[in-house]
Formats: sequence, C-alpha cells, structure tokens
Amino acid sequence: MMHSVTRTSADRKTALVETVFPVIEGLLPADGRPLVLDIGCGKGRSLRGRAKAYPHTWFIGVDLMISRLQRLAKRAGREGLFNIHLWHGEAHEALMFCLPPDAITECTIFFPDPWPKRRHHRRRLITTSFLNILYHKLIPGGRVDLATDDAGYYQWITQTFLRHPAFHSCAPLILPPEQQTDFEVLFNGKNRAIYRCAYRRKAVSSCKAS
Ligand SMILES: C[S@@+](CC[C@H](N)C(=O)[O-])C[C@H]1O[C@@H](n2cnc3c(N)ncnc32)[C@H](O)[C@@H]1O
Repeated sequence: MMHSVTRTSADRKTALVETVFPVIEGLLPADGRPLVLDIGCGKGRSLRGRAKAYPHTWFIGVDLMISRLQRLAKRAGREGLFNIHLWHGEAHEALMFCLPPDAITECTIFFPDPWPKRRHHRRRLITTSFLNILYHKLIPGGRVDLATDDAGYYQWITQTFLRHPAFHSCAPLILPPEQQTDFEVLFNGKNRAIYRCAYRRKAVSSCKAS
C-alpha cells in the first residue's frame, strides 16, 4: 500500500495526518506485531528481502523519490508482500506526523545521503533533533541500524549518537545477501568499505519531547 501526498499542497501537514496517520495507527495496536521503519528505503531490495523473511512483521518504507517507491510497490505487490507499506515523503515528517509514540521496533537507515561537503552538512539526516524525534517513536529497547560508505559521515553519526542521552550502542545487523540494500550490493561489488553502527533506545532518558 502506498501513501502519497502532493508536496505543493498548502495544507500538506494536515493531509499527511489525515491520509496516513489513521492507516498506520490502525495497523499497530490491532495485532501488536513488530514494526520496522526503513528510512530512505530507495528501490527497496532490503525491505522486500526482509518482508519475505519476516511475514509477521510490518515494514514501512519511507523515501522522497516517488519513482523508486512506485517500482517497489509494483514488485512487492507481484510478490504478495502485503506486510510492506510505503510512504512518500520526508523522514522527519513521516516520524512526526505518521507514527504514534513508542511504535517502532526497529529503524533502519542504510546509506543515507552523506552530503560530504562541509557547506552541505546541515542537510544531513542524522542530527540531535532528528534523534530526539526518533527516540520518542521507538519502543523502549527499540533499535536503529545504520550503514554508510562515507567515513566522514560515519564519524558524524557515531558522535551524534554518543552525545545523545537516549541511546546506547549495540552490535550492528549483518544482513544475509538476499536482504542487503541495493547500495550495499553495489559497494560490495566494488570492494568498498562499509561502516556500520547500531543503537538501542534507553527505556528512560532526559530527552525532551519534540
Ligand atoms: C543513497 S540512497 C540509499 C537507498 C537505500 N537505503 C539503499 O541502501 O540502497 C538514499 C535514499 O534516501 C532517500 N532520502 C534522502 N533524504 C531523505 C529524507 N530526508 N527523507 C526520506 N528519504 C530520503 C533518497 O531519495 C534515496 O532514495
């Protein structure tokens, strides 16, 4: 199922809440199944692989690029992967407006755009304010897994998490080949280094609500 919004709409936030929130909200308490959020899911190779392996888990893929999501939706439909839901839009908004607190069991952020130039660092996804939002949407003990090929961004990510009071580090996921993302497959093919890290949400923290 894919949820899409017109990004030029003046009442975009209202539309997000009205069209998406009830759907996702409706999924969660009914069966208490784990919920995995894949931020920047791209073409969704990993999402599909994992949805096949864990049919009783809900997977939500979020991405800015509608064309990637449309292709992913078609393939997932053909494969009968009805535990995948896709949301077209920006990650902060998906978290803030589409998911209730304490909802996400696991969040994956694989190969987020690294924005390597210093003047572009402000565009990076992983910031303290992003982690504040994520904290409130993860279940206590919920995990975040990240991977990047950019050593500078890896350092930025690990330092941002280290400074944050609500997370502690844990062993990162190593996915089997059929569950790896398109970028992971690409970088493995080029023998490029991949940097991984993972964190768990502490049960209680001094982190303020966003
Ligand atoms: C480098 S690609 C990685 C795709 C996939 N995770 C993989 O490993 O193959 C980054 C993806 O994140 C998406 N993206 C970038 N910024 C985003 C944001 N703020 N919110 C949602 N998606 C975002 C891009 O559209 C792109 O599909």
